[in-house]
This record gives sequence, structure tokens and C-alpha cells, in this order.
Amino acid sequence: MSTVARPAPAATPVPAYDVAAIRRDFPILATRVYGKPLVYLDNAASAQKPSAVIDAERDVYEKCYANIHRGVHWLSVHATDAYDAAREKTRRFLNAAEAREIVFVRGTTEAVNLVAQTYGRTHVGPGDEVLITGLEHHSNIVPWQMLCEERKARLAVAPINDAGEVDVDVFARLLTPRTRIVSVAHLSNALGTVLPVRRMAELAHERGIPIFVDGAQATPRMPVDVRELGADFYAFSSHKTYGPTGVGVLYGRAELLEKMPPYQGGGDMIRSVTFDKTTYNKLPHKFEAGTPNIAGGIAFGAALDYVTGIGLERIAAHEHDLLVDATEKLQAVDGLRVVGTAREKAGVLSFVIDGVHPHDIGTVLDRHGVAIRTGHHCAQPVMDRYGLPATARASFGLYNTRDEVDALVGAIHEAIRMFR
Ligand code: ALA
Repeated sequence: MSTVARPAPAATPVPAYDVAAIRRDFPILATRVYGKPLVYLDNAASAQKPSAVIDAERDVYEKCYANIHRGVHWLSVHATDAYDAAREKTRRFLNAAEAREIVFVRGTTEAVNLVAQTYGRTHVGPGDEVLITGLEHHSNIVPWQMLCEERKARLAVAPINDAGEVDVDVFARLLTPRTRIVSVAHLSNALGTVLPVRRMAELAHERGIPIFVDGAQATPRMPVDVRELGADFYAFSSHKTYGPTGVGVLYGRAELLEKMPPYQGGGDMIRSVTFDKTTYNKLPHKFEAGTPNIAGGIAFGAALDYVTGIGLERIAAHEHDLLVDATEKLQAVDGLRVVGTAREKAGVLSFVIDGVHPHDIGTVLDRHGVAIRTGHHCAQPVMDRYGLPATARASFGLYNTRDEVDALVGAIHEAIRMFR
């Protein structure tokens, strides 16, 4: 049997919430799959949506839809107010200092590309370095790699140990006088490791280097305070945080965003245009060319209301309980190995089973109504680190239950019976 570190206990106990009542807020959870109740454990890929979010998006189209920041008519003014209110909700959610530091994008991926192509292109030159970690999702590798290729710079990688942790001392040694920016995940999508981002930010700042934090997996699972973390940039996606697809957030400190060139050109990002010269709009509009996802942005605000209404501390405690329960039950399964045994973990449980390919595990689980993700999880370097082509991954959401953990374990036993 593999030995697995227990995820660290929550710092302060928080009262639980009524999961059965919460589940009624999510219509899709009543779905039956092959005659079995749906057990949705693929939340790290995308979370399901509560009625409050679905209704909010429908309400926009039924009651206050028009283009924003452009019209003097009643509908446009109301749509603009609702969209700007979502930005203010996002500011509060991250505890950013100002709403203009919140740039709406399509998702975390676009946020990384935006910073790599604007801050990166103006600050990274030949012989410079960009430092990431061995835990990153492809979206926090490839944009930096593209930048480094173009600028003849070097992508440095802080390695992970066998538990899936980044050693902060090794990370510190990789910060050199040539490092121009650091970009790290807050929470690994492949292994569930929570990175020591605050300490990494301190170390980077001691050397005058800014830090970008990919918070895609963190914002649905834990309270995030960008100022307390010391993040210069922080990105996350609505669709993983119980909101609509196609909306994401780039937080950037105003001082940095002000100095960055625009990312895309088009409507709304300009102050004035002539054929000789264009001047740019103020923050955040300088980075928001074209008509955005208006209804999605407003419904994203409803998603933030929903999760803050429950409380991120309570969601973190709930998922921690599920992770501990699932870790203990899975490690008792003969031939099963948990991949990623960091002391600080949240919400994500990757595993492999001797003699059963992860895709076969996923297929059998699906027949039992249990939805998990199998594959490399868009983190091939993490798989390479463990010499694995793929893992099976269960990832929890605020609506999952201990009964669903038992359904997962039962279906895993079925898969083993079939394939061994
Ligand atoms: N990044 C998403 C995942 O981890 C898609 O599954």
C-alpha cells in the first residue's frame, strides 16, 4: 500500500453547510447516467452551475441586454451598470485595491497570454529568464515558452519532489539577476498541491521581480486575497468558479498595468483614433478590445455572489473533508497509488492502479455514473516527472458528498475486478 500524507488540517474550524440543500441549487446534479445517479467529480476541468447563475444569464437576455460602454439608451446603460457591478464584485472577491485592476478576459489562458505578450515582450530580452515551476498547466508553460523563443530568453523551471511539492530553497536559487518574471500555479490542477505562493512572492520581490499567479484551481476552493499573497498578477476562470464559460479575470497591480502596452486593438480600448495615431483608453478598458461576453460577465458576478454567500472558508473545509476521506479510502485499495502527496493539498486527487490503464478506469467509472478526468490533464511535464503517460483524477466541488466518495471507491473496485 502506498503511504499518503494526510492533507493539512484547516487552520480554523468553520461551521459546515447543508450540502443536500446546496445540491438542489444545481439542476444538473439530478441527472442520471446509464440509470445511475450522476457523481460529478470532474470539477477541476469545469464546475457545474447553480440556478442563480443560469437565471442571471437568462435574465440579461430577457430583461436588460444591449451592448455596453457605447449606448445612451436605457438598455445599454443598465447592461453597462450590471457588467461594471460584476467587475466590482470581482475586485471584492480578490480584495484588489481598485476595480480598474480587474481586466475581463476569456479565461485564465488568455490572461497568461496577455501578460506574456505585453509585460513579457517589453521586459524580457535576449539572455533573460522567466521562472515557472514543474507543476504548471500547459497554459502557464506554452505562452512563456513562445515569449522566450521570440525574445531569445530562457525558460527556467523550479523542479518538484516526489510528493509533488516545489522546494522553496531551490526556487529561490533559480531567481537570478536575469529573471524578469515568475509565473506559478496557486494550486496544481494535476496533483492538488497548494504552492507556497506568498513565500515565493516575497522571495521574488526581494529581488525586484514580479510574480504572476495562475489561480484557476484556487478560486473555487479557497479564499484568495491578492494583496495578502503579494501577487502582482492573478488570473482565474469563471467556468471553474461555478460561473459561465468564456469569462475570465486578469488582476494586475495598476502600476504595472498602466505601463503595459495593449494586448489587442479594436473598439473600446481606444481614446482616439486617426490614421496617424491612436491613443488608448484608461484601465481596464485598454485591455478589453471588442464587445465582451456581456451576459456571461454579469452571470459570473452572480457566481461570485453564490460562492461568497456560502463562504470560501466553508467550501475549503468541506472539500478538505472529502479529500481526507477519499485519500484514506483510495490508499486502502490494493494496487492503487495516489500521485501527488504534498502536505498542502486541496480538492484534487490523482491516482493510478497497477494493471489498469487510467482510460479504462475512467470508462468503467462512467458506466457507474462517476465522472472523473483521465489523461495528462494538460500537464504533460508533471506526468513525465512521474514516468506516467496519464493518471485518473477525481476533483471535488462544493456540492460533492461523502456518499459520492463511496460511489467512487465502489466503482474503482468494479474496474479492478474487470481488468485484473
Ligand atoms: N485545466 C482543466 C483541467 O485541469 C481543463 O482539467
